[in-house]
Amino acid sequence: MTAPTELELIRPDDWHVHLRDDAMLVAVATFTARQFARAIIMPNLKPPVTTVAAARAYRERILAAVDPSLAFTPLMTAYLTDDAEPEELARGFREGVFTAAKLYPAHATTNSAAGVTDVRRLDRVLERMQAIGMPLLVHGEVVDHQVDVFDREAAFIERVLAPTLERFPGLRVVFEHITTRQAVDFVTQARPTVGATITPHHLEFNRNALFEGGLRPHFYCLPVAKREEHRLALRKAATSGNPKFFLGTDSAPHRVTDKESACGCAGIWNAPVALESYAKVFEEEGALSRLEGFSSLHGPRFYGLPVNGECVRLVREPTAVPERYPLAPGDVVPFHAGRQLAWRFAGVTRPG
Ligand code: NCD
Ligand code: ZN
Repeated sequence: MTAPTELELIRPDDWHVHLRDDAMLVAVATFTARQFARAIIMPNLKPPVTTVAAARAYRERILAAVDPSLAFTPLMTAYLTDDAEPEELARGFREGVFTAAKLYPAHATTNSAAGVTDVRRLDRVLERMQAIGMPLLVHGEVVDHQVDVFDREAAFIERVLAPTLERFPGLRVVFEHITTRQAVDFVTQARPTVGATITPHHLEFNRNALFEGGLRPHFYCLPVAKREEHRLALRKAATSGNPKFFLGTDSAPHRVTDKESACGCAGIWNAPVALESYAKVFEEEGALSRLEGFSSLHGPRFYGLPVNGECVRLVREPTAVPERYPLAPGDVVPFHAGRQLAWRFAGVTRPG
């Protein structure tokens, strides 16, 4: 079979993205909006998005940062704290402001200081979410300093996720940006109301990339990349056709000065080459025919949302990725910086 020169996909959605705020929001939002019809917007701003009013206002700022002709819909999330109120969440869900709520274990990642100290404190919240069908999105890492940083996701499954799902058997849960074989196995065996997102970077490199010839801050994100066996398990899951696994870039821009620092920020900005990066992986796995399920069908099915009406086109054309993007708030280094990719995003095609 000859390799295709063009790919047409139902327009995808990004089920996990950080669009930030202020000047960074204005600089980065279009990179996501030009490829994806909808995106689940992470609420880890400073201060975090905990109320319906804050989410409404943030949604307006996102829409103001994006050209309306891109037809982009931000799907907002609530940041859960120890004091989260079931009624506030339920009202936001009912009013179409909150699509889901996000659990950050306190101190697990960027801007998570206000996160949840013990999931048991969320019992009333989770009970309500289960009753109304509101999805819980989890950053699945324990923060216990006794646990090795590379084992924190696997420990989270045992200590937090499995017991929580036992207590709330009807709760819809997305295990976000999974990085381990254990997470793949857990989600595969779980009931159909448990899904997972997979980032392009965790499909691309393993933890060696962090130390290749020196310390490489642009390969640092959380959860941190794991051993090769885990990357291979993620690639198998993403390209398997299993509807529990779907696209979530976890695109997380930080200024280059905040990454290249004595205490560099976690996060990889992959929005400029998101679909191109996934296409690379699916092609390498001989699974280009399964890309559309992962990128455009499984997510809407999980969230109970309609599949998008538009399509996007990717063309086989060598595409050089810039070393840096000079954005207004400061330079940002993209995923695949300085490399050449085989596919280029060629825009949205509208039916009729
Ligand atoms: C994210 C960020 O920078 O907001 N960083 C990251 O490494 N993924 C936070 C997160 O999703 O953990
Ligand atoms: Zn994230």
